[in-house]
Amino acid sequence: MQEGSAAILPDQENELKQQPYKRIGSLVSHTFHQQEALELQCEHGFVSVLFYRDDIVRILMNPKETPQKQSTLAVVKERENVELTLTENEHNLTLSSSKLTLNINRAPVTIAIYDQDGRVLVEETEHGMAFNSKQEVISFKKMDANDHFYGFGEKTSFLDKRGEKMTMWNTDVFAPHNPEIDALYQSIPYFMTIRNGQAHGIFLDNPAKTVFDMKSSTEQYSMKAERGQLDYYIFAGPTPKDVLEQYTAITGKMPLPPKWALGYHQSRYSYKNEQEVRALVQTFKEKRIPLDAIYLDIHYMDGYRVFTFDEDRFPNPKQLMQELKDEGIHVVPIVDPGVKEDPEYFVYQEGVKDDHFCKYIDGTIYHGDVWPGNSAFPDFTKAEVRKWWGDNHTFYTDLGIEGVWNDMNEPAVFNETKTMDVKVVHDNDGDPQTHGELHNLYGFLMGKATHEGLKEQINGKRPFLLTRAGFAGVQRYATVWTGDNRSFWEHLQMALPMCMNLGVSGVPFCGPDVGGFAHDTNGQLLARWTQFGTFTPYFRNHSELHSLPQEPWQFGETYEKVIKKYIEQRYVWMPYLYTLFQEASVTGTPVMRPLVLEYPNDKHTFNLSDQFMIGSDVIVAPILTPDTYHRVVYLPEGRWVNYWTNEKLEGGKHHLVEAPLDTLPIFVKEGAVITHGAVKRSTETKEEQLTVHVYPKEGETSTFTYYEDDGRTYGYESGEFYTCKIEAAIDNEQVNITMNVENDGYQPDWKAVKFIVHGVADHVKVTVDGKEQVTEVNAKGCVQTNLQR
Ligand code: GLC
Repeated sequence: MQEGSAAILPDQENELKQQPYKRIGSLVSHTFHQQEALELQCEHGFVSVLFYRDDIVRILMNPKETPQKQSTLAVVKERENVELTLTENEHNLTLSSSKLTLNINRAPVTIAIYDQDGRVLVEETEHGMAFNSKQEVISFKKMDANDHFYGFGEKTSFLDKRGEKMTMWNTDVFAPHNPEIDALYQSIPYFMTIRNGQAHGIFLDNPAKTVFDMKSSTEQYSMKAERGQLDYYIFAGPTPKDVLEQYTAITGKMPLPPKWALGYHQSRYSYKNEQEVRALVQTFKEKRIPLDAIYLDIHYMDGYRVFTFDEDRFPNPKQLMQELKDEGIHVVPIVDPGVKEDPEYFVYQEGVKDDHFCKYIDGTIYHGDVWPGNSAFPDFTKAEVRKWWGDNHTFYTDLGIEGVWNDMNEPAVFNETKTMDVKVVHDNDGDPQTHGELHNLYGFLMGKATHEGLKEQINGKRPFLLTRAGFAGVQRYATVWTGDNRSFWEHLQMALPMCMNLGVSGVPFCGPDVGGFAHDTNGQLLARWTQFGTFTPYFRNHSELHSLPQEPWQFGETYEKVIKKYIEQRYVWMPYLYTLFQEASVTGTPVMRPLVLEYPNDKHTFNLSDQFMIGSDVIVAPILTPDTYHRVVYLPEGRWVNYWTNEKLEGGKHHLVEAPLDTLPIFVKEGAVITHGAVKRSTETKEEQLTVHVYPKEGETSTFTYYEDDGRTYGYESGEFYTCKIEAAIDNEQVNITMNVENDGYQPDWKAVKFIVHGVADHVKVTVDGKEQVTEVNAKGCVQTNLQR
């Protein structure tokens, strides 16, 4: 229902409900032994300080007792031995590692944290850590005039979250996502502060409702949890990439996905039967549009019962899967957590018999309404239940399925609160806690169960899991899509900062529904959105039941041509993207990044929300408004090359660039090396030739370490991968390129390499590994040469 002005009646109940916070007060006593926590007893609370690494410290506060040290399952890191020194005087305690110093004021207890150069990173205000009679715990920190905030997972609005107040409470929001909606499907209570070019981060490991208020004051910000303890980690930086490495050391990194997961995916709520699926594949084939995966939404099931197929619509799933596999196409079925209450349905029977469902304190099973009607929900906080759920996936994997789509796992329930009753008591592996305390972990744990099940079942291949809900660390198990957006230009605009901030939140593999899920898309919006999708880490076109169909060909030839071109571009860029995914899996640095991650000193990047980077050398600036054929692009320091025209542009400036319908503005940094492949039917098709684009820069050696492996198995973990360091330098009208294989544990398919040198004179000489090559000038005026391996 739409709200009227009554919503802003004065003296709302909410205002009256505000409870004052009580500070933890002064230090009463403390204990400290090397390799144990520094424990502080304060007048009204208890604080623990633990180092995980020199550059990562964890702080806990519990008003009632010495804080519990058990972390949520988001945390994967064990504490390292860190050499610490504690010094004391009448005013302070000072605890230092080689990278961080905590200055703890005794009366009242407030903590300030400095880096090794004595620069303050995080400093509590006089309110420090506090709590109130509603069991809320809160920490107040000083906000510097130069602070800019990034991360917070999946949030609406612009890139920089200064001036925003954000709630973490996984919520199924079908109502249009707009800047006012501050809780969506994912809760990642983590952020990075960039101040004067340097970065540090904070992760609040609390899965209850938490609120980050970077809005109510310009001098302080706060983070609050409605239940549980304050339990947060500080990451020292100093670069934004360091913070990401530190944060993902604590919450884990994205495993390298199977290559097919990076291809173009087509979805619809729903392709309702086998004939529709076959016809869809046939059309992609006839139109020669690449395709790697098709999704089966809820209609494939028998009455929306998970782990079943509707026998009339999908009479022979095994054969269908095989046919599609032969075409190089994967099938990804949806699996929701709600298990239909049906005493004749084996999943419900097993769940009840073996005590797998969420229950109230009196032992009654919690039921809620979702697609199948009244349903029970697995208690994923129990290891045994996760195993049971994971094992059930043999139903899919026996059919050859290697990817699953988890939806409605906030969990969504069709009621006023949109979720499970907070009074439900989870088993939590023998440490019972209410749903209110653990809510934000539900989708994450479902992802853990599913990923682990799939991985065990598919014979050493890498599974793919897509999820709507999650918590910090979700990247270890799943790819995140940003839920039910709409076919609005505004939602295309919003998807850029949303995905960039997900990347900054440790989730490199994410993307929105291309074209928009609800509402009707149109040819132009779909074309522009697909252009953007070419470079979102996850690339899936998905739309809702009642909306106009939005497959690439639905809006006439003009648009189809453009859409096809950009789906093809995805495959052209694949060898570059795959290398970036590999980098992300090792370092935590996202594939798609805000410019501020690379240029944290450049004020033009601080809130740059309408363009982004792929890796360190490529800027993508999509068109985000209708009937728009020009746009302003900001290019930071250095020189940049227009990817399509080879025009050189000076950095440190804004440029007006042309963007006719078939052009997505892309800029490559001078000095870059970019690897490309060919257009293909799917990632299953072999790469015959690697193309290496070189953008040489006078006086500098361009370097790129190219990565490849079989794209399907975990062989890379035991050295079965190929890395090759490509270097290029221009010297006196001669471009010297070298390709040094650094690891040859895997042999790529391609036997030929084409080098294309951009922005040099026609007569330039090219050597590869010291040998002069026969060159030609291609249609775009670049010097190129071919080489057989
Ligand atoms: C939810 C999902 C959407 C899906 C639909 C039906 O709205 O977000 O992607 O198509 O449910 O399963």
